[in-house]
Amino acid sequence: MENRETLLRLVEDEIGRLPLDNMQPQGLYAPIRYILEDGGKRIRPLLCLMGADLYSGAPRQALSAAVAVEVFHNFTLLHDDIMDKAELRRGRPTVHLKWGESGAILSGDAMLILAYQILQRGASTYGTEKLPQLLAVFNRAAMEVCQGQQYDMDFENSDRPVTREAYIEMIRLKTSVLLAAALEMGAVVGGASEAERRALYDFGVNLGLAFQIQDDLLDTYGDAQTFGKKIGGDIAVGKKTFLHITAMERASAEQREAILAPGDIAEKLPRVRSIYDALEVRPAAEAAIASYFDVALSALRRAHTQADRLTVLEEYAYSLMKRNK
Ligand code: IPE
Ligand code: IPE
Ligand code: MG
Ligand code: MG
Ligand code: MG
Repeated sequence: MENRETLLRLVEDEIGRLPLDNMQPQGLYAPIRYILEDGGKRIRPLLCLMGADLYSGAPRQALSAAVAVEVFHNFTLLHDDIMDKAELRRGRPTVHLKWGESGAILSGDAMLILAYQILQRGASTYGTEKLPQLLAVFNRAAMEVCQGQQYDMDFENSDRPVTREAYIEMIRLKTSVLLAAALEMGAVVGGASEAERRALYDFGVNLGLAFQIQDDLLDTYGDAQTFGKKIGGDIAVGKKTFLHITAMERASAEQREAILAPGDIAEKLPRVRSIYDALEVRPAAEAAIASYFDVALSALRRAHTQADRLTVLEEYAYSLMKRNK
């Protein structure tokens, strides 16, 4: 098994080789370069390569699938940042602030197409016979991300309380399935069995749930410098995050009103955060993260009979749980 640093270098080199400098018009491609060039954690492509390496010891064969998923992920960020009115991503102004909403929409569209081109062009490396299977896994996840994003907006715009179950289903769709698909695509390239593919997918889903609850946590409690996004963005737009839902379950009528009252973020963030603190929302989120992470690890252990082959994935999963960005 290759180590994480080696795999990360493969991913960065492959992304660096995308011929975006010479493409015209640059108005379309410059935002793509900007969002792809640096700062991302590259979680999805790493998971994809690790998934392939696990079964075949040949992670390079999965490079095009890995980069296709990363390009798709970055496409979703361009559109997500418009939808969430986000101003900062990876410590830099978001694409729609720099190039306008129309620019971010169209460059996003082009990235979606680029993702398919990359996957298709890699067929000679992973084997053309695998393309239909890879497309099936990818397409299902891509459609589910749209479904999750729609639920996210529906919840944001609704005054009705969102249940924990509905929230978990929303984040499974918007976030988890892409991590799971990245892993499963790696497994397909690596020649895994059906059962192994399913176990790896389940690992990805549960890791993704833990990952998104942690993202919610960092959005309110993180450090702006390291997180790279504006702290309090979720509170500013009224997102129904894990923190919000837990707080609303525990809050008195008075506290509920104070959570929902409008205000500019400089005033609203400390107000809402102090209620979250009083209601011990943060330890509740940490417990949920730990619990999904445990489920993820047990699914991972079903993904291969040789426990020692799972070390790279296991250690990487642990490192993600300690992240602050
Ligand atoms: C951000 O994903 C969107 C979520 C699903 C929370 P990442 O945290 O993986 O973003 P980058 O690519 O590392 O910036
Ligand atoms: C991420 O959810 C989901 C997708 C991008 C599909 P968020 O909206 O929480 O992600 P960030 O916090 O903007 O990265
Ligand atoms: Mg969002
Ligand atoms: Mg967002
Ligand atoms: Mg977020």
